[in-house]
Amino acid sequence: MTPGAVPLDLAGLGFEQGAHLLLRRALERVPPGGRVAVRGTDPALPAHLAAWCRHEGHTVRPAPPGEAPVRAHVRRGDAAPARWAGAERAGGPEPGRAAGRAPLHWGLAARGALVEAGGPVVPFTLTERDQVWTDLAPRLYRQAAAAQWDPLTAVPWEADFTLPDEVEAAVVQVMTYLVENEQAALVIPARLLVQVHPHFREVLQLLAVQAADEARHVEVFTRRALLKDGRMGTSSAGGRASLASLLTEPEFSLASFLLSVLGEGSFLALLSFLERHAPDPVTRRISRLVHQDEARHVAFGMGHLEHRAGVDPRLRGRLRAAVERRHDALAGTAGLNRDVSDALVLLAAGSWEPAAIARGWHAVQRLQAEMDQGRRHRLTRLGFPDDEAAALSALHTRNFM
Ligand SMILES: [Fe+2]
Ligand SMILES: [Fe+2]
Repeated sequence: MTPGAVPLDLAGLGFEQGAHLLLRRALERVPPGGRVAVRGTDPALPAHLAAWCRHEGHTVRPAPPGEAPVRAHVRRGDAAPARWAGAERAGGPEPGRAAGRAPLHWGLAARGALVEAGGPVVPFTLTERDQVWTDLAPRLYRQAAAAQWDPLTAVPWEADFTLPDEVEAAVVQVMTYLVENEQAALVIPARLLVQVHPHFREVLQLLAVQAADEARHVEVFTRRALLKDGRMGTSSAGGRASLASLLTEPEFSLASFLLSVLGEGSFLALLSFLERHAPDPVTRRISRLVHQDEARHVAFGMGHLEHRAGVDPRLRGRLRAAVERRHDALAGTAGLNRDVSDALVLLAAGSWEPAAIARGWHAVQRLQAEMDQGRRHRLTRLGFPDDEAAALSALHTRNFM
């Protein structure tokens, strides 16, 4: 045998049965120019060896008769296989770290994968990391995945309670309102998700879990609404106009601002109010569970907008314009469904006694003040001066979402 050649015995294995795996493995263990001495009994071996080596950039020659049973010598080619010429890593050397920009030809390749040239271009519209990113995304995704709850077992659906008819109707009305808001909150992250380049996978994962959260919210509020009488309440044109205006905001950061920072931010106060004034254990429990999820949605929106405001000084001007545009578009609409505001007063009052209604009325005033404070606080965190934060909070939809 030629000195220095690595021996490889294929026994009866042919190239149509996987012999090339063994040969490739042997070639990986010699340097370019190094040799593998191949033995094997498959009759088609010389022809298959020649074709495979030509394709892979190696050379082969028959072994001299004196070297039998060695049948051929394969010399490892100098260049990498032609298939990987022009290939590039999808992102830098650390697969955990997203690149600043993800080219469309990386397509659906895993972050960090060696991407063969010549694949399809997939037209994702959000390809810049700063358009979608927050460093919180990986941690928030892990928290979200760990905090999923099962609507069937997490809520005491079998609890024994009967409410006065008008109180039950107030619960049903609030639940009906919540369902339409949750449906908007489900559709929006799902629409944003499909625009994001999958290189920024933690953002996609988080948006996917957020949509799954909203699916559960739709389920539990629907189920509570139908629990006793099997009927839903009313849906006002003004409420639906407010939600429709959320759906038409096409830009990722602006949609995230209107939905998560202003809308879901206001809902945190509403859900706390409902937990506090819930007349039954089912309403109390679902308000609490949903609040936990919403806090995460708000954290994601805030994290993203803080990140983007840090790299784009014009962002705040665009956020302000988005609030003003939406306010103008909704100026001719009624805002919050009156049936909903009446129901909130009754839930906080607990009865129709005039003194109780006065307490309920004040509780709803306090709720609206709390929502306003929360919005102003978040706007200040995004870098708006106090007076501008107050003005923008005041322009937020009266529908809360
Ligand atoms: Fe929700
Ligand atoms: Fe949400």
